Amino acid sequence: MKPTGLVLAAALLLVACSSVPKDASGEQIYATLCARCHGADLQGGVGPPLGPGSSAAQAPDSYLEETILRGRGRMPSFQGALDSGQVERLIRYLRERQT
Ligand code: HEC
Repeated sequence: MKPTGLVLAAALLLVACSSVPKDASGEQIYATLCARCHGADLQGGVGPPLGPGSSAAQAPDSYLEETILRGRGRMPSFQGALDSGQVERLIRYLRERQT
């Protein structure tokens, strides 16, 4: 394979790894993209806790949406990885787990 082919293959692989199925549930999206930093039970880890009693639980949806789309501090942006329906389902899932 020529070097350009390799670069292309690597780029495609990266895209494949960072994307989730279009119809993925909020739970699946969280498990795939968020749990490694925020914990499977939203208990926190590299990132702060997101569960009941956390500051994220007090924050409005717009704050969560902006964080997911733009990133925050050391958290990467997920703008390219998620469409608006996926972001909505993800936020709904967080809200369900926060109560
Ligand atoms: C690479 C690790 C990493 C990943 C992956 C990640 N985050 Fe974060 N997240 C962080 C860090 C670190 C912060 C704290 C940023 C700061 O305030 O400096 C944060 C902050 C947040 C906050 C704000 C919390 C608060 O109390 O202000 C929310 C909400 C959030 N993340 C949601 C998510 C969601 C939803 C996903 C999945 C789409 C996700 N994060 C993926 C590391 C990550």
